[in-house]
Amino acid sequence: MFWIIMEDQYMHTYIILFLLILLSLDCTALDTIYANQDIKDGKATLVSDGETFELGFFSPGKSNNRYLGIWYKKISHGTVVWVANREQPITDTSGMLKLSRHGNLVIRSGGNPMVWSSNSTGNNTVVVAQLLDTGNFVVWNKNKMIWQSFDYPGDTFLPGMKIGKDLVTGLQWCLTSWKSPDDPSVGEYRNIHDTNGYPQNLWWHGEILQGRLGPWNGLGFSGSPVEKENQIYSPEFIMNEKEIYTAYQLKSRVLQRVVLTWDGKTLILQWIERIKDWIVYANAVVDICDRFSLCGPFGICSINKHPPCICMKGFEPRNREEWEASDWASGCIRKKPLQCGNGSGDGFWKIARVKVPDTRRVWYNVSMTLKECEMTCKGSCSCTGYTSLDIRNGGSGCLLWLDELLDTREYEADQDIYIRMAASELEGLVDSLSNFNKKKRTLIVVLLTSTAMLLLFAVAYACRKIRKTPHMKGQGNWYALDAKNTSLQMEQLDDLQCYSLHEVARATGNFSISNKIGQGGFGPVYKGVLKDGREIAVKRLSETSQQGLDEFKNEVICIAKLQHRNLVKLLGYCAHQNELILIYEYMTNKSLDWFLFDETRSLMLNWPQRFKIIHGIARGILYLHQDSRLQVIHRDLKAANILLDGDMNPKISDFGLARNFVGHDTITKTKKVVGTHGYIPPEYAVHGRFSIKSDVFSFGVLVLEIICGKRNREFFHADHSDNLLGHAWRLYKDGRSIGLLSASLQASCVVSEVLRSIHIALLCVQHHPEDRPTMWSVVLMLVGEGPLPKPKPPAFFTEESYNELESLPSVDECTITVLYAR
Ligand SMILES: *[C@@H]1O[C@H](CO)[C@@H](O)[C@H](O)[C@H]1NC(C)=O
Ligand SMILES: *[C@@H]1O[C@H](CO)[C@@H](O)[C@H](O)[C@H]1NC(C)=O
Ligand SMILES: *[C@@H]1O[C@H](CO)[C@@H](O)[C@H](O)[C@H]1NC(C)=O
Ligand SMILES: *[C@@H]1O[C@H](CO)[C@@H](O)[C@H](O)[C@H]1NC(C)=O
Repeated sequence: MFWIIMEDQYMHTYIILFLLILLSLDCTALDTIYANQDIKDGKATLVSDGETFELGFFSPGKSNNRYLGIWYKKISHGTVVWVANREQPITDTSGMLKLSRHGNLVIRSGGNPMVWSSNSTGNNTVVVAQLLDTGNFVVWNKNKMIWQSFDYPGDTFLPGMKIGKDLVTGLQWCLTSWKSPDDPSVGEYRNIHDTNGYPQNLWWHGEILQGRLGPWNGLGFSGSPVEKENQIYSPEFIMNEKEIYTAYQLKSRVLQRVVLTWDGKTLILQWIERIKDWIVYANAVVDICDRFSLCGPFGICSINKHPPCICMKGFEPRNREEWEASDWASGCIRKKPLQCGNGSGDGFWKIARVKVPDTRRVWYNVSMTLKECEMTCKGSCSCTGYTSLDIRNGGSGCLLWLDELLDTREYEADQDIYIRMAASELEGLVDSLSNFNKKKRTLIVVLLTSTAMLLLFAVAYACRKIRKTPHMKGQGNWYALDAKNTSLQMEQLDDLQCYSLHEVARATGNFSISNKIGQGGFGPVYKGVLKDGREIAVKRLSETSQQGLDEFKNEVICIAKLQHRNLVKLLGYCAHQNELILIYEYMTNKSLDWFLFDETRSLMLNWPQRFKIIHGIARGILYLHQDSRLQVIHRDLKAANILLDGDMNPKISDFGLARNFVGHDTITKTKKVVGTHGYIPPEYAVHGRFSIKSDVFSFGVLVLEIICGKRNREFFHADHSDNLLGHAWRLYKDGRSIGLLSASLQASCVVSEVLRSIHIALLCVQHHPEDRPTMWSVVLMLVGEGPLPKPKPPAFFTEESYNELESLPSVDECTITVLYAR
């Protein structure tokens, strides 16, 4: 036998080759190709070991060009995560991938011996190329990796990939968008980890910097809601002599990917097996303050203020005229020049709770203390501000800005910055602060009242415009407002019908009492039937409602834009003199409370249905908070506002109270408490402070009600006087959570699902908003199976806590909303 005398290495290869010849009859099941083997278009593909990914030739979208790519195999067939010959399409099906003897991957086609090449080199004959179950395509030389597709990301960032820079080879790992859904070649958008100054992720559109993820602060990226301690998704930041990068790992079994879409959105998508589709879990750009340097140098963007831009303390607008016309780009300048050692010198003013400014022109030191950092800043005339690098354990390290401070925003996180200013300016600030409360308050009230009046006029005028604007059904576009007449920027609304009062009256039998199906916050709701037989729900806003016009405008615009399978759809509207009417799709199964709190009807809702309802509500709220173009806080989530369609799918209704989070104004106008006792969290009930976390609280209450079948505030127990939240907490503490389950559900329930839902609900009803998860986490926790954080005692768990509340002055609210297009 001639091969016995050969070297081991060759023997090994020959045996493998022999096996391969046998296996080539069924080569679709392989995850590996060996030297001199190929994969021909249409003939074979590689499939990873766990069958998660597949590699082969494909045509994207409507294109007929052929590309070598990697896509999901088991799920979501056709979702491509990587493309080799992005810039070198093959126009026919003659393409072939071959691994050369030297470890080079080469794509050839009929007329071209090298369409694309990986340029990798190894030692001949011991090389293999393998598609891993992570989606990484790797060339091995013995056990050494000599090339991997993860080093050349396209538009998709998978767990285990890196975005950053290899400092040894100089290789930059970045995301680049496709040109279009049909063309994977490099498009206009890119997402890079910039290593100038202190590293941070930047999003570019061509040469325009669109936005950034703040620098890593030890817990997460400054200004980003995802923290290290998150249960589902763990972001990483690594910086050493060899490499600087960000990456992420999934902690639970959920399937996620990050994608930079061809039109420039950075989205986190999650696969939901039940609906067999990807859902947007997060969008990197949430609001107007995410736009890079919206407020210019030394400006601060605050999403809770209108207008959103203010100058830092001690600074004033560089160009007041532009600034007042909402063009903030030129930013702010110092009122008093820095002294830098002259005169009384300079001091620092602390700005609490921010996303730190752009770090491309900073100096840093990881071991300094904050005091040393301050001294270093003081010692350099060009230093404009400083902060800690790592905010854990009271802060450590030092970050110094040597230039203008760009892209600072207010952010609910424990990160502060200290900005430098002349000592004389600082004294003035400290003095004015003590006088501020006494003197300025009256002035502000006067100012705010007059602004409120002006806004009211603007809104009333705008609403009149709505009625006058003709409906252009033909184009499918409908402009809510005449753009040149208003500063409100409106989006075009698709498919929003305008009905005449006559049509609506006919559909509802002249608003006959027998067609009345409910009484909402702003007026009665009727059932109606349109000429074409479609059933509708007609909400007639009461004429007496003082805020009628505002709410009307609010609803029409908000609801028409918000489209999600767990939100009630607005079909149209009618405005006729004093009549303001909204027309929704009709829900055959009324509302959740109609079933939940009725002894007989509650039997019709078994556990799988209730669990589905919990999921649906969570996704609906998530959409409102995060995925819609306008971030919306519902503020009055309760069982009565969850409607059910024919298949018992939950649909959230009543956005009359929803507030556009973007650029809203909280100006005192009417005395009206929005929200419902039993569902609202302490910070809202007591201080009128609402945020997306107030909806999370209401959601938690709702989940407990769905499980227990009793209203939070009407809950009664013989042993104690706690409400439902208190009762749930008692049971949880004693490890008897399952006792909360309504008796009627015991037959149909899945215990682990019930316990998990109760646990999540308790996390949602925590006293402090920062202890509550975001809806994004809630949805992921509901889908996932990993461990959950431990809840603390909930807020408002006794009835007394509510009674104390009643004696507090009522919350002042107003319903004026100024919208920004995003
Ligand atoms: C391989 O090298 C060629 C020639 O230097 C270059 O044009 C090509 O872009 C390289 N391919 C990859 C995948 O880097
Ligand atoms: C090839 O193998 C030899 C010996 O095993 C080793 O010294 C050499 O570095 C290898 N070359 C490459 C490119 O891996
Ligand atoms: C400090 O004083 C010196 C001498 O008067 C002057 O030249 C310098 O410009 C001053 N520096 C600053 C920052 O005002
Ligand atoms: C960082 O600061 C520490 C403490 O002041 C100092 O010992 C160290 O040399 C500094 N490192 C650099 C790179 O400047």
